[in-house]
Amino acid sequence: MQLAAGDFFRDQRPTADLYLLMEVIHDWSDEDAVRILTAVRRAAPPPARLLIIETLVAETSGPHMSTLLDVLMMAITGGRERTPAEYASLLRQAGFVVERVSPTTSPYSIVEAVSDATRG
Ligand SMILES: C[S@@+](CC[C@H](N)C(=O)[O-])C[C@H]1O[C@@H](n2cnc3c(N)ncnc32)[C@H](O)[C@@H]1O
Repeated sequence: MQLAAGDFFRDQRPTADLYLLMEVIHDWSDEDAVRILTAVRRAAPPPARLLIIETLVAETSGPHMSTLLDVLMMAITGGRERTPAEYASLLRQAGFVVERVSPTTSPYSIVEAVSDATRG
């Protein structure tokens, strides 16, 4: 594993097999999230993978920690927590396809996506 410092809005990302974004996308609006994901995708030719680790909003109603975090993100960063379908939409816009979403024993889930081979 290599760690590469840089500004994901300005700097070219290094080419790699696997990228990891943990609690990054939830800091940002949909528009900025797609910009970040597109910057990763530009450096990630198929079959590169991207793991997004976030607290996902449940598709069904009811109490969940993610809804509190959602309000905090909106107030603090202008970002938001998202459902699996909302992550799939952002990822699709950036040129990734979601392969699976894995819950963990923690509040976090792992959204696993692969570079869309039909888009270069
Ligand atoms: C909520 S923290 C998550 C940190 C770490 N991934 C974790 O899970 O503990 C969000 C991270 O995004 C980084 N960040 C914010 N703007 C950035 C930018 N333009 N380019 C690269 N990283 C940025 C911050 O420095 C911070 O480390």
